[in-house]
Amino acid sequence: MGAASQVETGDGGVPAAEGRSASVANAARAGESGRASDAVHVNGQAVSLGGIPANWTLADLIRYRTTLRGTHLACEHGVCGVCTVLLDGQPTRSCLVLSHAVGDRQVTTVEGLDLLDADLARRLRAAFLARNAFQCGFCTPGMLTLVFAATREASACAAADDGSGTASAAGAASRARQVIDANICRCTGYSAIVAAATDVLQQAAAPGPDDRAVP
Ligand code: FES
Ligand code: FES
Repeated sequence: MGAASQVETGDGGVPAAEGRSASVANAARAGESGRASDAVHVNGQAVSLGGIPANWTLADLIRYRTTLRGTHLACEHGVCGVCTVLLDGQPTRSCLVLSHAVGDRQVTTVEGLDLLDADLARRLRAAFLARNAFQCGFCTPGMLTLVFAATREASACAAADDGSGTASAAGAASRARQVIDANICRCTGYSAIVAAATDVLQQAAAPGPDDRAVP
């Protein structure tokens, strides 16, 4: 292992393919346009690239150069989505992005969602708890990250009044299915996850003091 980072060093069937395609595309864009940098910024903290092999992915960097463990690894081929993080706010499969290609982009892991929007992160966790939207929990960080990004997008669309279609329960559920398609749940707990995501997406489309209660 190389130079110490500024982050504490550790040792260590849903239809629609829109979400998956977007996540892979974001990873591809990161690889194309990323430029050399001395560090990667994860949740606002610099993680040194000193001594990091050229073939280490962003997922490797997060797993082995920080104490953050919410970003999981499984297929390492961009298929399962369990390694999803946000790159400048966009869901991205961290197993497809080389650490040295991240450049100045801001990386947010599931542990850092509160830094972007603490209220949304809290409501999202509450919805997953209320709906019992996990079994083993392996896919949960990726699910939370995907739904977080989609909800921020839905909120922005609602603010712009562009008719994003998530204000209705049916519209929100449809969007939820698109979003979580980018992450495979090994426990097949999709119904509860869709329900939790639908709750949060629908709230985002009609924000108001009385609309934010989680069932
Ligand atoms: S581990 Fe990255 S997509 Fe499966
Ligand atoms: S809850 Fe086990 S993989 Fe989704």
